[in-house]
Amino acid sequence: MSKRSARAIAPSNIALVKYWGKRDTKLNLPAAGSLSATLSSMYSETEVTFDETLSADQLIINGEAVSGAGLSKAVGLLNDVRRQSGEKHFARVESTNNFPTAAGLASSASGYAALAVAAAAAAGWRASTAQLSALARLGSGSACRSLIGGFAEWQTGSASDGSDSYAIQVAPAEHWPLKMYALVVTEGPKATSSTHGMMHTAASSPYYTAWIDSVARDLNDARAAIASRDFSALSEVAERSCLAMHAAMISARPSLVYWRPQTLAVIEQLKRLRAAGLSFFFTIDAGPHVKVFVPPETDPMVEGKLAELDGVRRVISAVVGPGARVVD
Ligand code: PMV
Repeated sequence: MSKRSARAIAPSNIALVKYWGKRDTKLNLPAAGSLSATLSSMYSETEVTFDETLSADQLIINGEAVSGAGLSKAVGLLNDVRRQSGEKHFARVESTNNFPTAAGLASSASGYAALAVAAAAAAGWRASTAQLSALARLGSGSACRSLIGGFAEWQTGSASDGSDSYAIQVAPAEHWPLKMYALVVTEGPKATSSTHGMMHTAASSPYYTAWIDSVARDLNDARAAIASRDFSALSEVAERSCLAMHAAMISARPSLVYWRPQTLAVIEQLKRLRAAGLSFFFTIDAGPHVKVFVPPETDPMVEGKLAELDGVRRVISAVVGPGARVVD
């Protein structure tokens, strides 16, 4: 009986210059570039076993069998691995996340990155990091950035097969180990998937084109801020990119609002902490939680202050860290 397995761990990542728009929905090719920080301590761990006794691919996340769209995306990615490696069998994929799934905390990014690395290793395919990044992208666009440690930029690319649309490293984690606190304001899963939200925004927001056109400048400014470790410059770019993305969503018809009242309440309280001298910037993805980045030298006591803000249920902390990798 032939069975081949491998296990991988992949971190989550949070975009500082956001991705919100696709030029190809099947291959997850982006309308513009994006740039993120890869985070330690928020991760997915995935085991892939190609097994000749299976009659279909199986996906189990946090102990529960997944069907429908989630399974189809994983199957698409596994098909690509089979095509590139010559592997013939179906696979059993078992994955766990150590943070809330599908709540705007980027579980899909870490999940598909871990799946790509584990599946390639199980199939014996010695893929390059760029190939693995492009493979992870098939599951969810932002997953291509979780392959890369530190600060990662997802290149738009121009090839119609997506072969040049993958993430590259802008700077390693040691260059600037920023700390991140995810302020969790609700526990439920998000209402609208990012794919649906992006298509809806592109189809109906009068600000969509302006949003996409703004990304090139934000990328330039973010790269420069990271290179010179200029925290206030990075804060300016990250907050404006987040707010411009949400403005495009909010102006879609009908309006797409991922925020909850607590989201705004937390931002208001954060501004008071800024006025009192705390250096930070916030960013928000397709969910209600507020992610706060602070410089590496920030007093760890700040976590307690953030946990006490009205509307914050709990805080998940992380540091900019390494990318996805195979584990024993
Ligand atoms: O990769 P997806 O389809 O989960 O979309 C991610 C979208 C945002 O998190 C809102 C932005 C980003 O660049 O990660």
